[in-house]
Amino acid sequence: MSRKMNQNNAHFRQAVRRLPLGVASNFRYWGEERTIYIKQGRGARIVDLDDNVYIDYRLGYGPAILGYADPRVDEAARKGMEVGGVFALSTEREYTVAERISKMVPAAELVRFSNSGTEAVMAALRLARAYTKKDDYVILEGSYHGLFDAAMWYTPMDKWGQVGDPEVYPYSEGIPVSTKSFAHFVQANDANQLEDVFKRKAGRIACLLIEPIMGNCLGIAADPEYLRTARALCDKHGVVLIIDEVKTGFRVAKGGVQQLYGVKADLCTFAKAVANGYPISVLAGREDIMRKIGKGVAHGGTYTAHSVSLAAAEKTLEILDETDALERIADYGTRLRNGMSVSLKARGIAHSFVGHPSMSGLYFAKDPPRNYRDWKGSDYSFYDAAAKVLHDERILCEPDSREPWFISAAHDESCLTETLAAFEIAIDTTLRSAGSTHKKSG
Ligand SMILES: Cc1ncc(COP(=O)(O)O)c(C=O)c1O
Repeated sequence: MSRKMNQNNAHFRQAVRRLPLGVASNFRYWGEERTIYIKQGRGARIVDLDDNVYIDYRLGYGPAILGYADPRVDEAARKGMEVGGVFALSTEREYTVAERISKMVPAAELVRFSNSGTEAVMAALRLARAYTKKDDYVILEGSYHGLFDAAMWYTPMDKWGQVGDPEVYPYSEGIPVSTKSFAHFVQANDANQLEDVFKRKAGRIACLLIEPIMGNCLGIAADPEYLRTARALCDKHGVVLIIDEVKTGFRVAKGGVQQLYGVKADLCTFAKAVANGYPISVLAGREDIMRKIGKGVAHGGTYTAHSVSLAAAEKTLEILDETDALERIADYGTRLRNGMSVSLKARGIAHSFVGHPSMSGLYFAKDPPRNYRDWKGSDYSFYDAAAKVLHDERILCEPDSREPWFISAAHDESCLTETLAAFEIAIDTTLRSAGSTHKKSG
């Protein structure tokens, strides 16, 4: 199917004169001829400047869990607007929303709001450091926790395996290298390595910051046993366990990944699905830790708990808590996986799915990856090529194979049928394309 990009590309040429890369976030730049500008989103579909209508599996990296412009949430947001915005004072609804979050997530004994996932995780890290009076932290290789300096380190694959800590590099210029000594990296699902770091850095580690289903790394999932061991190791070594639920929260289960795994965090962070796309995030956790806020630990901000976002959060969480929306999302995700599997098996293509059906990673190797290094061993270039064809077929998945396919409650039967038909085209086109080096299974 040919896709017109004339208006998108014309707008790009104009926008790039005033905006770096022509966009408001680096990740939205997909090249001079493939950068998309959206006119409108409704349900599971979004429309670009060329009137291409896409079935969207990115959902703004997760937030639109009920679908774009959900009328119930938007109506609530309009009522929130009537409240008046922000006052540098508090409103009653903060308590109502905090109560709902505590009901859904047992670890959320106390709650504070912020505006973005980044802000919530920054606050969690600061709080853990203050509580333990230690500065270092441990994060998983391949994880993403936001655009702040402390979370923007990575370990190149080829450097892994050396004795001691692997070489660490900043993701961005402008990050002071002097701060890198605080970050320690471990691979997912290796409890021995985690314990080893805790022992070697004894007395220095404030927290383990972990996303048990890695929403920016295909959805690579921790084994339940690994997470339980990590919990026990944190207790043993006096380390605060921060579970970053910015992507998994109110998505993989009402109580998030913590409910799915039966593991309780000391601190946890939420954003994305909380308000169906209105900007709000949550820092929550154990009362004794959270009470340090205001007693030595700074937290707040001008736009925190904005009346529009708060009203949208109240309605979104009510829907997620009191309806079968999450079951329907998981069911759609399972049927999408099954349909894709049928097409791939018919063509002898080795594959597996990673993560949770509501945020699935499609992995081109027989066995699902257990850590970031495994992903490097898959045929991700096949995924990247197929994704381009899917875009031309108006199915919007992330161009980078590490980002899972997000499902909303608005994805319906027509979305499923159209997606599976387009998927077959994308796979066949990619197989046919010159230079495809894809290895078939068996
Ligand atoms: C697990 C996780 N933590 C934190 C963030 C940062 O959230 P935000 O982009 O709202 O700042 C993200 C964003 O994708 C995320 O996936």
